[in-house]
Amino acid sequence: MCNMRHIIDLSDLTEQEFSDLYKLTSNIIDRPEGYADACRGKVLGSLFYEPSTRTNLSFSTAMMRLGGSVIGFSDPGSSSAAKGETLKDTISMVSSYADMIVMRNPREGAAKAASMYSSVPVINAGDGGHLHPTQTLTDMVTILRLRGTAENMKIGLCGDLKYGRTVHSLLHFLERYRGVQLYLIAPDALGLPDYMLRFLKEHNMPFCQADSVEQVLPELDVLYMTRIQRERFADAQEYEKLEGSYRLTADKLRRAKKDMLVLHPLPRVDEIAQDVDDDPRAVYFKQARYGMFGRMALLLTLSKLPFERAGRQAIGAHGIKCANHKCITRTEPYLPLTGRVGERCPYCDAPLELLL
Ligand code: NCD
Repeated sequence: MCNMRHIIDLSDLTEQEFSDLYKLTSNIIDRPEGYADACRGKVLGSLFYEPSTRTNLSFSTAMMRLGGSVIGFSDPGSSSAAKGETLKDTISMVSSYADMIVMRNPREGAAKAASMYSSVPVINAGDGGHLHPTQTLTDMVTILRLRGTAENMKIGLCGDLKYGRTVHSLLHFLERYRGVQLYLIAPDALGLPDYMLRFLKEHNMPFCQADSVEQVLPELDVLYMTRIQRERFADAQEYEKLEGSYRLTADKLRRAKKDMLVLHPLPRVDEIAQDVDDDPRAVYFKQARYGMFGRMALLLTLSKLPFERAGRQAIGAHGIKCANHKCITRTEPYLPLTGRVGERCPYCDAPLELLL
């Protein structure tokens, strides 16, 4: 693995890099004790500007199981961000203390922005509704460990496809597997954003849309459930209208294939009934455990790479802005922004528009 630097999107990895990462993950799963000192002396900077249980804990546990240590915060109120410090300054400083940085931030494109000011690798642990590459690593490790490949699979993605960053990241990555058929299961108001639909079309990824799980369940090899992302709704009433609009139960699961996998990035709210947990097809807790091993493999790999600071893009937001009001460029105005109207924002992938 020679070109891997920042991990903004898992699709940034070449096939060879991902295959090496998966092999290392498998070795760690089979013999974790062999890696107890692999990152001794290394420090992970863990910056969580948004709530997290699994991602935060699993990164910290991963670093500790490798013999390294962790600094950082899980409540931005306890960091200088609360005093108005820019992301650029926080990152410049933390990257002079730590050997790697993992960051979750509610602004879309924040990880890309951070990577431009970091002298150590930055791992995106979720940037708003945009991407979440290490969840994709978790999802792929689960599918590959339990089924060997994702090729020719019929994969249902159910729930909040609009704001669910885990779905967006997973779709980006599935592009490299032949014969994958996608079933997008969501109420109209929670369908995939246009830029993601465009992505599927541009990459010839066959998909169909359904508004209930029951409609497509018997076809599926994998069912990827997600919760409605309440915190990303501008209007609480909109959320209330959609709350509980789909739910997987043990009864519904009777119609599914005997070897279908039920995945969920967690946390679950009520979209999977508790009575599903005892079904051997429900692998979401196993998935969360695999995620920790995948993160161990990622940290170990990054810790060994010679690192060169990425070149900054020239400053030049001349006459354009990102159309996405949740984009990091809206709150960190010093960020360089180049491109033409209609092209994609280099941070969050939304279209660029005229600055009026
Ligand atoms: C996901 C996330 O944060 O995007 N959780 C996770 O990282 N395991 C999914 C979610 O919050 O719904």
